[in-house]
Amino acid sequence: MDLHLKGKVAVVGGGSSGIGFAIAQRLVTEGAKVLIWARRETLLQEAATRLRAIEGAEVVICAADIKSPEDNLRVIRAAVAAFGRIDILVNNDGAPPKGALLDFDDEAWHQALQQNLMSVVRMSREAVPHLRAAGGGSIINITALSVLQPVAGFGLSVASWAGLLGYAKTLSLEIGPDHITVNTICPGRIDTPLSRRSFTRVAKGDAEKEAAARAKLDLETPVRRIGKPEDVADIVSFLVSPLAAFITGTTIPVDGGRSAAI
Ligand SMILES: NC(=O)c1ccc[n+]([C@@H]2O[C@H](COP(=O)([O-])OP(=O)(O)OC[C@H]3O[C@@H](n4cnc5c(N)ncnc54)[C@H](OP(=O)(O)O)[C@@H]3O)[C@@H](O)[C@H]2O)c1
Repeated sequence: MDLHLKGKVAVVGGGSSGIGFAIAQRLVTEGAKVLIWARRETLLQEAATRLRAIEGAEVVICAADIKSPEDNLRVIRAAVAAFGRIDILVNNDGAPPKGALLDFDDEAWHQALQQNLMSVVRMSREAVPHLRAAGGGSIINITALSVLQPVAGFGLSVASWAGLLGYAKTLSLEIGPDHITVNTICPGRIDTPLSRRSFTRVAKGDAEKEAAARAKLDLETPVRRIGKPEDVADIVSFLVSPLAAFITGTTIPVDGGRSAAI
């Protein structure tokens, strides 16, 4: 199916790894020009080399930290400088630290809000004029299933992303008339370097324990497997395409059926 993304310009956060890389890969395959960004330049360069192996790929990188207001603006400006327009903004990165809510001080809360909420506020504010100038576009936020179904120990993410859900829904009302859609994805467990690190941490280096932890999660998922980054990239590529122009303001779990709600 042609998603009509050829020549569109996308800014993809966390594009050097996991979900962000898979989204960038899918968009490049569909003919979009992509700026990927994250903090570590070496990993970005490696990712860009892989993406540039795709026929017709136009990929640029920008090393930046999502918690820095200056970097948020620099990323948007770098995309416009490279490609002259922006059609698609994918807000995605790592995650705030885990831990019990009562153990986090004001500074930890400030950092979490910068990472999960204020970065999106700033990136959207800077990008929307370019999306408007392009005649419309899409904003996608990657959050987590835990924002719909809170999990003890994930409170910094849950609380800051809950604010993001309110922001995204309201933004969708305000910029819908400009033909700009805003949708939020809540992935369940996805097989990425981030989740592999957590399996390794739990198993403390014991390969058998690690395999058992993975198998348990596969079994607990209705479709009997955890997700692949491509599971998220597939729906994102559809949502940012003209085929999904009537879908906005949604919050969509991509979780193999794990969310216990109707
Ligand atoms: N994997 C899962 O099971 C899962 C489930 C639910 C939700 N999620 C969410 O999905 C998002 C992506 O996760 P993932 O599994 O793809 O992780 P990942 O493989 O570790 O990739 C994270 C990406 O974000 C970048 N990043 C991290 N911190 C950043 C920062 N402060 N500024 C800019 N870039 C930053 C990383 O590069 P640098 O470190 O070089 O900056 C990397 O490119 C996260 O928000 C995660 O919480 C993941």
